[in-house]
Amino acid sequence: MGFPNVRPRRLRVNPAMRRLVEETKLAPSELVLPMFVKEGLTEPRPITSMPGVVQHSRESLRKAAAEAVRAGVGGLMLFGVPIHKDPEGSGGLDPNGILNVAIRDVISEVGDSTVVMGDLCLDEFTSHGHCGVLDAQGRVDNDATLKAYATMAVAQAEAGVHVVGPSGMMDGQVGAARQALDAAGHQDVGILAYAVKYASAFYGPFREAVESSLEGDRRTYQQNPANFHESLREVKLDVEEGADMVMVKPALTNLDIIHAVRKEVTLPVAAYQISGEYAMVEAAAANGWVDRERAHLETLTSIRRAGAQIILTYWATEAATLLRTRY
Ligand code: PBG
Repeated sequence: MGFPNVRPRRLRVNPAMRRLVEETKLAPSELVLPMFVKEGLTEPRPITSMPGVVQHSRESLRKAAAEAVRAGVGGLMLFGVPIHKDPEGSGGLDPNGILNVAIRDVISEVGDSTVVMGDLCLDEFTSHGHCGVLDAQGRVDNDATLKAYATMAVAQAEAGVHVVGPSGMMDGQVGAARQALDAAGHQDVGILAYAVKYASAFYGPFREAVESSLEGDRRTYQQNPANFHESLREVKLDVEEGADMVMVKPALTNLDIIHAVRKEVTLPVAAYQISGEYAMVEAAAANGWVDRERAHLETLTSIRRAGAQIILTYWATEAATLLRTRY
């Protein structure tokens, strides 16, 4: 027998063979589209650092939500941007605040045809840009923030949200949301826990999207990217506190964490391909340095292969459409 007698290339010989042996498939239903809605807008407004992503008006949000549903996406994650921000982030707690109004709009548009989620965090609403309220020394006050999250969770549930996504990295945030929801009779509203969330440079474009005026950083509550075991601890706590799904964020810099979390829990594992991950590919593609569609699908496939069965991505509608015509 001639050398080499083992030939892996045989399984790559043509598209039909490659399709047959492909191990990881992405489905539109596994993609969740994060969406921004800005109070008072009459027309959608582009976000410069995220080409193709906009701050929606209430009207354009409804249309884009319906379009995402037609493309087959599994869910929507809504972020509200108020006109007025204050130190308490009161716009997030107000039943008539922009996020809660938008949840009602989207639910009336799409009903139960997709999973509608709301960001459960104060940073879009606070004048200082932190994810919680501050104490007299200007530090983020964990337990006072939990009270605000509890009120916010119930307001979102009353607006009809299917799932809340606590993303502020306060200790006890999942338990606080669960207790408040249950006490208000919202046992069926789920919790997508941002269980692992690193203090990342890649959130940059999101700051533009929600007009955040954050001074300083979030390192007293978000995790140090150097740490691994801390993530498993965070996940364990969120599972104990009643999380229905656990998320790792950012995605591409943390494929090892996604993989480890997948092995650790029996709940659905999600990953968030964040604004900076999206922006990097868009910027390189705009320069002709990478093929945009291939680069996006490659990142999504890698995140899926690492073990995330749900992926939040700004590319969800477009990717879902591409995937439907792919096979
Ligand atoms: C906090 C929140 C952030 C993102 C999602 N939820 C910002 C942050 O933690 O700094 C970032 C998402 C992205 O960058 O795409 N409400």
